[in-house]
Amino acid sequence: MTAWQRTHYCGHLRAQDEGREVVLCGWVQRQRDLGNLLFIDLRDREGVVQLVFSSANSPLLEEARRLGLEDCLGVRGKVRRRAPHLCNPRLATGEIEVEVEELVVFNRAATPPFVVIDPPQASEELRYRYRYLDLRRPSMQRHLRLRHEAALTIRNFFHRQGFLEVETPFLTKSTPEGARDYLVPSRIYRGRFFALPQSPQLFKQILMVAGVERYFQIVRCFRDEDLRADRQPEFTQIDVEMSFVDQEQIFSLIEEMMAEVWTLIGIDLKTPFPRLSYKEAWARYGTDKPDLRINTTLEDLTHLVPRLGSQVLQRAVEAGGRVIGLCVPGGQAFSRSQLSQLTRRVQDWGAKGLIWVKKKDNGWQASLPLPQENIALLWQTAKAEEDSLLLLVAGPEKQAREIMGRLRLELCPPDPKLKDTFRCLWITDFPLFEWSEEENRLVSMHHPFTAPREEDLELLSDDALKVRAKAYDLVCNGYEIGGGSIRIHRQDLQEKIFDLLGLSPAEVEQKFGFFLEALRYGTPPHGGIALGFDRIVMLLAGESSIREVIPFPKTTSSLCLLTGAPSPVRPEQLRELGLILADKPPDEDEEA
Ligand code: AMO
Repeated sequence: MTAWQRTHYCGHLRAQDEGREVVLCGWVQRQRDLGNLLFIDLRDREGVVQLVFSSANSPLLEEARRLGLEDCLGVRGKVRRRAPHLCNPRLATGEIEVEVEELVVFNRAATPPFVVIDPPQASEELRYRYRYLDLRRPSMQRHLRLRHEAALTIRNFFHRQGFLEVETPFLTKSTPEGARDYLVPSRIYRGRFFALPQSPQLFKQILMVAGVERYFQIVRCFRDEDLRADRQPEFTQIDVEMSFVDQEQIFSLIEEMMAEVWTLIGIDLKTPFPRLSYKEAWARYGTDKPDLRINTTLEDLTHLVPRLGSQVLQRAVEAGGRVIGLCVPGGQAFSRSQLSQLTRRVQDWGAKGLIWVKKKDNGWQASLPLPQENIALLWQTAKAEEDSLLLLVAGPEKQAREIMGRLRLELCPPDPKLKDTFRCLWITDFPLFEWSEEENRLVSMHHPFTAPREEDLELLSDDALKVRAKAYDLVCNGYEIGGGSIRIHRQDLQEKIFDLLGLSPAEVEQKFGFFLEALRYGTPPHGGIALGFDRIVMLLAGESSIREVIPFPKTTSSLCLLTGAPSPVRPEQLRELGLILADKPPDEDEEA
């Protein structure tokens, strides 16, 4: 192999390398046969360069003709400039080509199931099944590099700030973050299970008890939950915890980290980030993760209802509901059938119906029979414009706002000046609890270790839903990219919160006994945050799914198409673990 020691990466060659003898290694991306000339695009991690084979060396030309896509080669040759009219301005190496003098085929490739090219031509299923080929695409190589650079920047940042990266166990006890656990059966202790961590929450708090003071970890977390474009069953967090801190210190630390990470794509993130209370976010945007690139906000028009003379709206308000409006810029162009379609969608989301109003001739056209002067009042109060479409939903407040929030995202375009920017903000003042209709009890809005605001402590016993938490989320362009809080560091308060959550003393002891015990030994006040690393890299890469920046992602139905996991196991393995399957897996016979 010494003779075939690579001298350059394909993608690094430039006009100034003219005349240089080079040895390149890579994969065949494309072939063009012009008879007495044959061109091959050779690809490696750093890019593509054009190789030339000519009839001046016909045995070599014949050998090159037998090459196929994705064959793995080494070539020795000379860099030469292309004639000006043959330069390819779309290629970084487009001013040169390599005249090949010697060729070695390291390995032939089977016929690839798809052409390795950007943008991808194959379905997601095929790309995941042959991920090693998909990852050869230049854009995927860029994403891998970006992910590596982001992790490196983050590690260096926290190191400079005096943080220690400490590893926490993967085989552990379940910590509640709201999703289902992935369980691992114990062989030695039959009938007992480890859980893969949904986050290292309790361990990082215990590290504060242990006097580590400043902890961070870039760590894999596991959650068995419904998947979406920004959710995977295993994902990576930038997990952070500090002792003797307040919210302000955490905000400025994370803002500085974010700004440093964004320099990787040449963007100067403006800090400090704006802040919005949870309540305000819902009122204006119908969500607690607003995309601030869209200027349109929701309008609460409930106060107008007594003056409108509409029975439908009156009844909704009397039932405790609200009337929420949204002006869709340019929405006047919506046709009747588009409006009926929109109405059906809103009904699918749980609303009774959708009311629409738009300008027509010198007056208005509306789906609700109202006198023109009453519509005028509605129109002016909602600050609708000539070409707007005014939409209204009446119903329970949270539902009406949530629906309008979704319509805002779908129908209102981002401000052209903000379209390609990153708008980060902090959401603050979350309620400590929310009411779960399903479970008929209080549940934590973040997790049970979040501290209540001191001034709300008195409300804990009588009006717990009014208690605000010392919790915060970081949002960017409509994605929740982080969440954290100041924690409870006193054992008595922690016990009280468990009690309010409806946990019996026996349950508390079984689940969190070890943690309550730790809190008794001089636990410092502390707080922290965890950021979604995959979501951050997705934003940096300009992608809209985290699967594009995860080397080996699962499908939306939680399968690994590359390995076929999850898969059945041998009966001996189950026996060893003391497990008997209630249902026979479909392909058990094949595996056994
Ligand atoms: P939380 O549950 O909000 O907080 O998670 C923190 C951040 O992790 C990201 N995230 C995910 N990313 C991809 N796929 C998923 N399934 C997924 N779930 C969460 C999000 C989210 O904001 N222990 C607390 C943090 C703390 O209080 O310090 C926690 O895990 O970007």
